[in-house]
Amino acid sequence: MAACRGRGRTAAPRRGGRPPDALASAPRSLVSKKGVKKPYRVLVLFDTDGEPPASQDYKKQIESTDEAEFDVARALIGKGHQVRMFGFRDNLEQLITGLRAEPFDVVFNLSERFRGESALDYTVAAVLEMLGIPYTGASSEGLMLARDKALTKKVFAYQGIRIPHFMVCPHRAQIQRPSDLRFPLIVKPLDEDASVGIAQSSVVRDDDALKERVTFIHQRIKTDAIVEEFIAGRELYIGVMGNDTPVSFPPIEMVFGAETTVESRIATFKAKWSVKYRESRGIQNMIAQDLSKEVRARLARRRCRHGPILRRGFSRADRVRAAARRSARRSGLRLCADCPTPPRC
Ligand SMILES: Nc1ncnc2c1ncn2[C@@H]1O[C@H](COP(=O)(O)OP(=O)(O)O)[C@@H](O)[C@H]1O
Ligand SMILES: [Mg+2]
Repeated sequence: MAACRGRGRTAAPRRGGRPPDALASAPRSLVSKKGVKKPYRVLVLFDTDGEPPASQDYKKQIESTDEAEFDVARALIGKGHQVRMFGFRDNLEQLITGLRAEPFDVVFNLSERFRGESALDYTVAAVLEMLGIPYTGASSEGLMLARDKALTKKVFAYQGIRIPHFMVCPHRAQIQRPSDLRFPLIVKPLDEDASVGIAQSSVVRDDDALKERVTFIHQRIKTDAIVEEFIAGRELYIGVMGNDTPVSFPPIEMVFGAETTVESRIATFKAKWSVKYRESRGIQNMIAQDLSKEVRARLARRRCRHGPILRRGFSRADRVRAAARRSARRSGLRLCADCPTPPRC
């Protein structure tokens, strides 16, 4: 998959493909009388950087291009499904016309932006919902909810999922740290993803550094900022997919080189997207090893509570910080971030 593509306010890589949870609720017409599943007619929907080709012909790219939409198309074709690809940028009429052009069974929704803006990702899912089209992945409400890191945390807190203390620093408002929000803190854009605006300097240890980083987020990333208490621990990603009965995947860990300090072990923009940087720091993503029985059991319970909140699509709980503190009861797991679209943000 290509690295950086323009994303509106900021240039960030596109997130990865979305597993086909809609396939779990296949329309009956797709199952023959003998109970054998027929191939699906799948429309792979994705956003493009520039104007999409009028022909919407992506045969060449499907053969050779290493990008999520073409990887997905190849995989679906490999499984015997019929695939049509449709790219769009900012033309709503064209999008709707494309969706109505030929019959299909399901949209594999890989769109992450409308008009190049990632904050508008939910609008494409909303169009599919308005047209009554079955599609894979998170619903418009899930995408909208997950975009706001503060709102997401409030919802998880309601579900009894532990989260870090945080405050929101809106544009142009005074930065006033409450005394119970203790250093070290991490400063992030309130509504970006893909680690946009997250660097080693996001972790701050005093009020001056806090103000400087919040101002950076306001001026350079042009969003409100969220300031969270820094949770030391391992970087685990827990994928959950499905509707009423979600399926979860084994925990993936971002492993950092031995030379790094506790506070530098964060998934910064470079740690996620720069191959060179990852190689130089010994950063790798792998199935998490050596998790204690207790942590595994708690992750399983967490997955059960986290998965069904919107009862549709999939999500990924990021930075579930495991065993960070000595006391087993308090050490636990904290959800620092959440993402409706695995596997790459
Ligand atoms: N409260 C926190 N404590 C420690 N590290 C954090 C915290 N919040 C975020 N991080 C680090 O920053 C990374 C990106 O944060 P996240 O909120 O997931 O942003 P994005 O949505 O851009 O991926 C996380 O994967 C984690 O490494
Ligand atoms: Mg994240």
